[in-house]
Amino acid sequence: MDLYEYQAKDLFAAHGVPVLPGKTVDTAEGAEAAAAELGTAVVVKAQVKTGGRGKAGGVKLAESPAEAKEKAGAILGMDIKGHTVHQVLVTTASDISEEYYFSFLLDRSNRTFLAMCSAEGGMEIEQLAVERPEALARIPIDAIAGVDKAKADEIVAAGKIPAEVADQASDVIVKLWETFVAEDATLVEVNPLVRDPENKVIALDGKVTLDGNADFRHPQHAELVDERTENALEAKAKAKNLNYVKLEGGSVGIIGNGAGLVMSTLDVVAYAGEKHGGQKPANFLDIGGGASAQVMANGLDVILNDPDVKSVFVNVFGGITACDAVANGIVEALKILGDEASKPLVVRLDGNNVVEGRKILEDANHPLVTQVATMDDAADKAAELAAGA
Ligand SMILES: Nc1ncnc2c1ncn2[C@@H]1O[C@H](COP(=O)(O)OP(=O)(O)OP(=O)(O)O)[C@@H](O)[C@H]1O
Ligand SMILES: [Mg+2]
Repeated sequence: MDLYEYQAKDLFAAHGVPVLPGKTVDTAEGAEAAAAELGTAVVVKAQVKTGGRGKAGGVKLAESPAEAKEKAGAILGMDIKGHTVHQVLVTTASDISEEYYFSFLLDRSNRTFLAMCSAEGGMEIEQLAVERPEALARIPIDAIAGVDKAKADEIVAAGKIPAEVADQASDVIVKLWETFVAEDATLVEVNPLVRDPENKVIALDGKVTLDGNADFRHPQHAELVDERTENALEAKAKAKNLNYVKLEGGSVGIIGNGAGLVMSTLDVVAYAGEKHGGQKPANFLDIGGGASAQVMANGLDVILNDPDVKSVFVNVFGGITACDAVANGIVEALKILGDEASKPLVVRLDGNNVVEGRKILEDANHPLVTQVATMDDAADKAAELAAGA
């Protein structure tokens, strides 16, 4: 899960990273009051989970509470790269002497963590990385050894952070590593990390991505979820513990058991769909190896409630849970759903107890269910049904 800037900076503050005081509000009047409370010139900042807010006009200086109200009024409701601004952060305006860039991230391709640091921070870090890669230091971090003061000093030196603030910057980096580890993040980015005229180092912006796989260790992270921006179907699936991802522009709902099988099902459906007017998979849904009838019903319920879905492809390879159990699950799930099941289902069963499984579905003779023996033919049938709907 990506966090808003204000949430990221709350986490930073909790781990001792210096940030500026601020308040998040959702009305122009609230921004006026927040600015009055801070009693300084402020910066009004759009809170959206996308980059480039400054360039889009979502970060504005306000000298007075009245001006903060006016700026917040202009920023609230703005659309930044498809994200509506519901909240603004009103924070103390800082005099900035220099802007640096810093991040920790999970470097999947190199199977390690990575620190990136540059004395040339600010808004155009992507451009810097392309045009002058030598100005952006990349230091691999050993997951076990982590980042101690010595490692942080090495990062700061590689990033060419000026000597006068190097010690402070490396203290901040140690604390950012503590944040990264303690919160189970996959990204902690500060752009800009600034040096003010008194040579204080402050995190002026913050971007954090939390690893959802570690949610069970962090019950308090649930409070960071913003229901306004959650996809309704994904939220429903999550509440039912399903591994579901909505895919834009698709019409064929997909259910399978095992992430690998579901991934290849997406490919096969996209390929088959080309012959049927460009039908595409509408989602990823892995109901896992030991799926019960209730899990099948939950999965079908989510998919059938997706208005984009015109047909459903249930692709199951019986393993630990044999095909007869899955077939019973499908029959039961259709009973549980009753009239809510209203779209054609193409079922392909194979693997353990396939003969028994197919027989159960044949005997049930449900009007919406078509059985197809192979994955390619089933994908073709599902795409054809979606095109005809
Ligand atoms: N509190 C502040 N005081 C003074 N200037 C600020 C403050 N916050 C931001 N700025 C200025 O605005 C610029 C952009 O702000 P920020 O980095 O938060 O947003 P952004 O980079 O546009 O957004 P994103 O990081 O989402 O791409 C900063 O580089 C800095 O120059
Ligand atoms: Mg920024």
